[in-house]
Amino acid sequence: MRLSNAIYPGSFDPITYGHIDIVRRATRLFDDLVIAVVANPRKKPLFSVTERVRITEKALAECDICGVKVIAYDGLLIDCAKSHNVQAIVRGLRANSDFDYEFQMALTNRDLDSDIETVFFMTAGCYSFLSSSIVKEVKRFGGEIKSFAPKSVEQALAHKFE
Ligand code: PNS
Repeated sequence: MRLSNAIYPGSFDPITYGHIDIVRRATRLFDDLVIAVVANPRKKPLFSVTERVRITEKALAECDICGVKVIAYDGLLIDCAKSHNVQAIVRGLRANSDFDYEFQMALTNRDLDSDIETVFFMTAGCYSFLSSSIVKEVKRFGGEIKSFAPKSVEQALAHKFE
């Protein structure tokens, strides 16, 4: 069976240009891509899940990315993937340091459902240092984040830190 649709899960707290780079790469390969925002990430999020979904939708629109649906999910990713009938899970890799965590997650998900394949995309080199945590920290202390995330993300962070 050929892979035609995929889910791109994450905390997206908030979405950055690094995530957007992965979305662009994944939409070149898959006909349908769904971004799935986890309701309860491992780390306590700055934004609620509703806010993260809305910020992600706005950021995609700002970057002229159409046809990518954004949903929220709770519980196991593999259950969400199955309920949306997707064949693949998309994840981005920045550096070596991502590997152990991603390897563990991909093999766990494969164990839970061997029909759903995890597919990795290498981020653009210019975003290999970038994370949502860095973006939040820079903005929190008054730094400039326009090369890290779209304007809508900057506005949401400014509002949050007011
Ligand atoms: O952006 P993140 O925080 O690195 O994304 C991690 C995420 C949300 C994809 C992962 O933690 C997840 O899928 N959580 C849902 C719970 C789950 O399915 N756990 C088993 C796979 S490790």
